[in-house]
Amino acid sequence: MNGRIALFTDDPGWHGERLARAFARRGYQARPVALADCRVDLEAGGVVIPGFEDGLPDAAFVRGVSGGSLEQVVLRLDFLHVLPALGVPVYNPARAIEKSVDKAMTSLLLKLAGVPTPATWAMESEAQARSLLMGECARGQELVLKPLFGSQGKGLRRLASPADLPPAEACQGVYYLQRYVGPAAGWEDYRVLVVGGAARAAMTRRGATWINNVAQGAACAPAPGDPELGRLAEAATRALDMDYAGVDLMRDRSGRLTVLEVNSIPAWRGLQSVTRADIAGLLADDLIDRHLARRPEERRA
Ligand SMILES: Nc1ncnc2c1ncn2[C@@H]1O[C@H](COP(=O)(O)OP(=O)(O)O)[C@@H](O)[C@H]1O
Ligand SMILES: [Mg+2]
Repeated sequence: MNGRIALFTDDPGWHGERLARAFARRGYQARPVALADCRVDLEAGGVVIPGFEDGLPDAAFVRGVSGGSLEQVVLRLDFLHVLPALGVPVYNPARAIEKSVDKAMTSLLLKLAGVPTPATWAMESEAQARSLLMGECARGQELVLKPLFGSQGKGLRRLASPADLPPAEACQGVYYLQRYVGPAAGWEDYRVLVVGGAARAAMTRRGATWINNVAQGAACAPAPGDPELGRLAEAATRALDMDYAGVDLMRDRSGRLTVLEVNSIPAWRGLQSVTRADIAGLLADDLIDRHLARRPEERRA
């Protein structure tokens, strides 16, 4: 056996099985473990991961960081932050996960990197949000309100008039607002998987509603062969310093591609159904090649 991988997840499921099989084929044993079950123990070297009491894993693959109190989430992220200092590479790294889970930070980093993304605002003040929405509606624009830490298309609202603005308590006290970019035709957007810096698979998602997430019932189809899709997805992934990412893009009414969000723990079951690429295999290869494979001179030793 070449080594052992901790697969951080509460629910290994289909993705966990695929990854475990892909790693096994490459000589690595991947064991699922929940971050909530890990603990800090300075007497035992710092971090104890159930199933790895006899020695830390060679690497960790993050498939899920479950929600909880702020304290619980911070402790779970502590493990991801400290493991590299203990010689255990973490895929995706904690910083990348933090940046992408927070949609406001994602938007800022995309903007700083010059990656096209819709006009976006984030604020705590209900009065500021209302005045923004009034101005946008007066210009004939709609806004999309998203949970700052949202995923899978849950909790999104389209705001077409100032009366649509919910009270601050209804959105955890933060208004993350993005200009609605009407799709060029029908309800559809794109998901591109970038692994190790290169776009490796892409699909068109056709939504049952304007929310084109697979988790919301969107149908998957192979994406058109547009090199711009891959180029923008790669730029978005670089902007967030990710090993791999699932990038959501949409074409606006004038046909221009724009990046809606970048996912650091993307699901790929829908994408796998429309691509020949072996996605779990690509991820396992990338983690091993860039973080674990020994240098040729070491291999000879
Ligand atoms: N600004 C927007 N304009 C139009 N549609 C949007 C916009 N933002 C999100 N959507 C739709 O909602 C879906 C979910 O939004 P996204 O930002 O990816 O959040 P989530 O993390 O929930 O997937 C997108 O895939 C897209 O179909
Ligand atoms: Mg999304």
